[in-house]
Amino acid sequence: MPDRWSREGLLAVPPEEFGVAAFAVLLHALARVDRPVVGLPTGRTPVALYEEMQRESFVFPEGSRLFAIDEYCWREPHPGTNAAFFARHLPGVPIRVPRHDAPHPDAEIAEFCRAVADAGGLDVAVVGIGADGHIAFNEPGSTTDSPCRVTLLAEPTRAQIAGDWQPQPTHGMTLGLAELLRARRIVLLASGESKAAILATALDGPVTPDVPASFLQGHPALTVVCDSAAASQLRPC
Ligand code: PGA
Repeated sequence: MPDRWSREGLLAVPPEEFGVAAFAVLLHALARVDRPVVGLPTGRTPVALYEEMQRESFVFPEGSRLFAIDEYCWREPHPGTNAAFFARHLPGVPIRVPRHDAPHPDAEIAEFCRAVADAGGLDVAVVGIGADGHIAFNEPGSTTDSPCRVTLLAEPTRAQIAGDWQPQPTHGMTLGLAELLRARRIVLLASGESKAAILATALDGPVTPDVPASFLQGHPALTVVCDSAAASQLRPC
């Protein structure tokens, strides 16, 4: 397969162009909305996007409401939290993140979700894909009506973050598939060879709770931005 190709709603680019391509797609998504409500991911994948945003001195449109799509449950300050991630990668950008150290995570994520709903729900959800096909912390077994909630992190998710966390958190707070799939537009990011198999399973395989990202197949406004390594097992058209 060539390094650069596309099929409907999917753009595959050389790895060095991943951040630029993701930024272009996000800009396009934001351009369609007034005072956009945006869900933003953490992890290795979006770093290239956020670096590009910084390089371009990008400022979210006035009146934007920005929300993290998930956070770990952890009672102490920790560099692995999503709050710490955003402080490092998008410093000064006002992104609301569920409080990782909230004494009552169920109440915290419920209140966070109410704030998303009060803002009108997500216009744009930017998401990554986990090694087990999770979207945010919607682990296998999640369904299209899974709400905002505290979730038990699956073993592959804990393995995925082992480089940043020792020991790893056992639980996270997440927007549900219900809230994410209701986003007017979804941008799915995937990079690196380690995502090739799960991306193909999610986009070209059966739609099933075993692979929560497979529910994205049914979304009417999904754009997938991936690099050629992550795209290597997808059917080209
Ligand atoms: P990653 O995580 O970008 O670190 O691979 C993605 C995810 O788990 O959603």
